[in-house]
Amino acid sequence: MRGWAGGRRALSSGGVPEGVPAGVPTATRPFESIPCDGRNRWLNLYRVWRAGGFQDFHLRMDGAFRRLGPVYRERVGTSQCVNVLLPRDAAQLLRAEGPFPRRRGIEAWSAHRELRNQPCGLFLLNGPAWRAARLALNREVLSPAGTRKFLPLLDAVARDFAAAMRPRVRDAPGGALTLDLHPLLFRFTLEASTYALYGQRLGLLGGGAAGGAAQRFIAAVETMLRTTLPLLFLPPPLLRRLHPPLWSEHLRAWDTIFQHADESIQRIYREFCRGGAGAAGGLLAELLLQGQLPLDAIKANVTEFTAGGVDTTAMPLLFTLFELGRNPGVQRALREELRAAEGGPGGAPPLHELLSALPLLRAAVKETLRLYPVGITVQRYPATDVVLHNYRVPAGTLCQVALYAMGRSPDVFPHPERYDPARWLGKDDTSFRALAFGFGARQCIGRRLAEAEMLLFLVHVLRNFTVEAVSTEDIRTVFRFILMPETPPLLTFRTLD
Ligand code: HEM
Repeated sequence: MRGWAGGRRALSSGGVPEGVPAGVPTATRPFESIPCDGRNRWLNLYRVWRAGGFQDFHLRMDGAFRRLGPVYRERVGTSQCVNVLLPRDAAQLLRAEGPFPRRRGIEAWSAHRELRNQPCGLFLLNGPAWRAARLALNREVLSPAGTRKFLPLLDAVARDFAAAMRPRVRDAPGGALTLDLHPLLFRFTLEASTYALYGQRLGLLGGGAAGGAAQRFIAAVETMLRTTLPLLFLPPPLLRRLHPPLWSEHLRAWDTIFQHADESIQRIYREFCRGGAGAAGGLLAELLLQGQLPLDAIKANVTEFTAGGVDTTAMPLLFTLFELGRNPGVQRALREELRAAEGGPGGAPPLHELLSALPLLRAAVKETLRLYPVGITVQRYPATDVVLHNYRVPAGTLCQVALYAMGRSPDVFPHPERYDPARWLGKDDTSFRALAFGFGARQCIGRRLAEAEMLLFLVHVLRNFTVEAVSTEDIRTVFRFILMPETPPLLTFRTLD
């Protein structure tokens, strides 16, 4: 772990007066004097390709902050951006994001929608169209009242996961089951998000092989994410010429995702029109009932949620179990907190009260996302000029808050290498430090759903099992549009009596 000595050097060589601590902005300096990582954008792109693709992006950014300080510019292929890592710079970006915050676009995704004549959901929309859809969806998806409706559904799936695991663990030699949990976690998150979105179960936790359609969907989401990354730095027309197989693979993956979502939507819509009860409780039925969005927009967004709800949630769960597996003290403390919350005189409280009574568990999820943020950056094009560190950045410049680098910086988190959920519960200022879901009006709309799903999953695991990590070595992570382990860790489960 490191400080940013390079950054301090860059500042002092730029004339920070004696006695002013490094990192404190003084006079505002022009954009051009922001330290630059590599001068030639195409050479930079070539270097990235040559160094084994894009999967070390988070490590390269981390290295660049170490060399250049807490703000630097970078140009890779068609993309140029300013990268920052300090919470106060993230706060500046929030202030400058304006009423229609904009992230970096994903041209390949938009190109797919255009080619297939499909409307865009929130992720790809911008301007007033984004805002109108977002306001209509916030109430059902992000508000505490909206989220509360999903809790029993998510709890039922988490309970089933534990019930399916128990006999496998009990019957394993010595009562200890060692496995790579990540395929099961995918099934869990797909089952849970499908239930929350469509109000119907897929039956993926029964122990048998996942059905062909579910398997195809999971594979398509993985392919879509993997092929997105190289597509980010080249415009689709160029890519279609340079690498047609990658492009067709990407299109095919999206088509499968759309087909899966479309089949589910059709099923629920038919039931809904017949006044059936099967769809009760799912988000789709709520949106149809609410009638605030046109059917096309509902379909576009529910499809996006379907694609966005599986890997994003499965990965932090895997990393959390690994960290609990190699930090038995933290695992014990979480189990004690759970027992205390459930053991009141009235028995287990309602789900929303139970989750509010588990601050350490919530902090554990935050701590996981600090070390292993799903997305390694949050991006904004500021609507007005903004001062980042002490540099003036013109409106419209792509700016990225580097979450992975922030989470591992000793200048932001004392002892960043420690998995220490309690750090979120003390008196230290934590503002703009937990940004894994982004910030402001454009933050992740699935945030509450994902948090509830992760918390309830962990509640059932802690209630039923102890977890150990087979190796306590750090996991090597790779960035494949979301951050994942290069090799999933092996975990050993034992049942708790
Ligand atoms: C642990 C799980 C998840 C993480 C860490 C995560 C992270 C993020 C981040 C960083 C953003 C960009 C926010 C910004 O620009 O400020 C985002 C946007 C988004 N996420 Fe998530 N996400 C997760 C789960 C989900 C789930 C389960 C869904 C679907 C139900 C979802 C749907 C979306 C959508 C639709 C957007 C675009 C929102 C907009 O532009 O208005 N996410 N997410």
